[in-house]
Amino acid sequence: MGRLDGKVAIISGGARGQGATEVRFLTREGAKVVFGDILDEEGMKVEAEIRELGGEATYVHLDVTEEAQWQAAVQTAEERYGKLDILVNNAGILIRKGLEETTVEDWERIMDINAKGVFLGSKSAIPAMRRAGGGSIINISSTAGLVGSPNGSPSYTATKGAVRLLTKATAIQYAGENIRCNSVHPGPIDTPMIQDTINDPSRLEQRMQRLPLGRVGTTEDIAYGVLYLASDESSFVTGSELVIDGGTTAS
Ligand SMILES: NC(=O)c1ccc[n+]([C@@H]2O[C@H](COP(=O)([O-])OP(=O)(O)OC[C@H]3O[C@@H](n4cnc5c(N)ncnc54)[C@H](O)[C@@H]3O)[C@@H](O)[C@H]2O)c1
Repeated sequence: MGRLDGKVAIISGGARGQGATEVRFLTREGAKVVFGDILDEEGMKVEAEIRELGGEATYVHLDVTEEAQWQAAVQTAEERYGKLDILVNNAGILIRKGLEETTVEDWERIMDINAKGVFLGSKSAIPAMRRAGGGSIINISSTAGLVGSPNGSPSYTATKGAVRLLTKATAIQYAGENIRCNSVHPGPIDTPMIQDTINDPSRLEQRMQRLPLGRVGTTEDIAYGVLYLASDESSFVTGSELVIDGGTTAS
């Protein structure tokens, strides 16, 4: 028996990093998963891997800034798998620049992908969740959505703060329809997004000083949390913030 038997999910940004691990975890627990990204080659490889393992997953091209592509992804879930229960708004980018170095183009691009992408995903998925009788939306924010940091990116922090409160607004607006919405706040996780930090000994050392558990996180650390929020085990949980950060924001 899987923890997500009978459930259907959409995951954005699922071609690599945390998203790809979430595709693996959710299918392993019995969910049927439509996942999208702009990295089509990597996405197709993940789809093939899941099918080889006997899981059910379909890769679709999904640029999260494009409403029509979101609608097509939701349609694929309903046509191929019959409904939609779970949405993981995972896709995101980091533009690591200080406030004065950030250009208007940088600001618009990061807002488009990290904040508008989450809005469009939820807007597209909610009608299908309503048809399914409820659902669970999981928005991947960051510790950067909770606090500022010395070498952080103000534009990234602004997008992740937006995701944090969009989550609560969504939770409140749709609780009466049994649609839950929660945010996840990872600390540093070993994915392509932060390889520049991981490969720079002095930056990594600086980061480690703010990591009480003494290590960078893995994609599995986050996927376990996403799995919990996706499943009915969290049926009384909405509007909450699941912080998975090695203790970074505890002090
Ligand atoms: N890695 C970390 O330290 C860390 C920490 C906190 C939060 N996060 C967040 O976790 C999420 C996953 O990031 P990750 O660490 O796996 O990094 P990653 O760069 O490996 O994965 C991000 C994925 O999003 C995809 N993506 C980018 N723009 C897109 C678009 N317009 N449409 C669709 N997909 C797009 C990328 O192609 C990639 O597959 C992001 O929202 C990120 O901000 C990451």
